[in-house]
Amino acid sequence: MPAASTIHPQARRFADWNIWRCPHCKGMLEPAATEPALACAACGLSMPIEDDVLVLKRDVEANNHVAQSFYDSPLWPRFRFWERFNWICNGGERRARNKVLRYLPQSPRLDLLDVAIGDGVYLDWLPRDWRIAGVDISRTQLDACRPRASNRSVWLSQCEAERLPFEDAQFDAVLSIGAFNYFNDPEGSLREMVRVARPGAPVIVSDEIPNLTDRLFARKLGRPDLERYIVSRIMNLGDEFTDMVERYRDLDVLALARRVMPDCEMKSIWMGVGYVLVGQAPAR
Ligand SMILES: C[S@@+](CC[C@H](N)C(=O)[O-])C[C@H]1O[C@@H](n2cnc3c(N)ncnc32)[C@H](O)[C@@H]1O
Ligand SMILES: [Zn+2]
Repeated sequence: MPAASTIHPQARRFADWNIWRCPHCKGMLEPAATEPALACAACGLSMPIEDDVLVLKRDVEANNHVAQSFYDSPLWPRFRFWERFNWICNGGERRARNKVLRYLPQSPRLDLLDVAIGDGVYLDWLPRDWRIAGVDISRTQLDACRPRASNRSVWLSQCEAERLPFEDAQFDAVLSIGAFNYFNDPEGSLREMVRVARPGAPVIVSDEIPNLTDRLFARKLGRPDLERYIVSRIMNLGDEFTDMVERYRDLDVLALARRVMPDCEMKSIWMGVGYVLVGQAPAR
């Protein structure tokens, strides 16, 4: 460990919350000398901190690459119109999101992990005395989250849900909204969320139902060409994301979740358009 006086303030800030572990070898991450970075005490790998975001993985593959490209592109702000439409249909954004956030414990000084935090739009609604670690693969979304994370106990990191850079059993609750269906490995990411949660901590995962496009009139009319046009062009998901949605329409979210958290429950929300999985990290 370098002399305290030489440690960069951004590195010091991350090192002050002793939860970070090397995603490759699980070694301790310690502040590097002088530059804004953490370095693995075991394998020596250095991970930069760029504008208060700890960068563990920039380049991702397969579904995660499709999602990253989409959320880094101008398509996402255009798609957001439809997200807002969903909130309006469900009584407004705060009310709609509270259908998920209500499963978080209400305890003071809670340690929360938010997987796929995006731009952290609901951070302002969470108590200011909570410590929150937020991870995401999209640099654009993390940058949009930074103003909401500044001047409070929020730490942001660019990495994949499938390989969380944390020591086991660190969080009082784990939350993930709006990304789960299309993770490269949803089951593996849920195992990761359970691993880093303290025994008994709630693990709360929410997304839209995988076969949401069944509700489109074009599907009811048996017009796959029209359905594809609506989803990719009018709703602005783009071609690659639309293909992904089509590939995962039969994903059995509850079955895969129960392989990780046998007692978890799945509740229908947003007039049947979304779900929330509510489980608990088992005692070890
Ligand atoms: C619809 S946004 C949701 C953001 C936020 N949770 C919310 O509810 O507003 C989905 C986010 O998931 C992120 N994401 C997708 N796949 C991911 C993965 N494998 N690991 C980490 N983040 C991922 C995207 O970059 C994007 O920011
Ligand atoms: Zn390492």
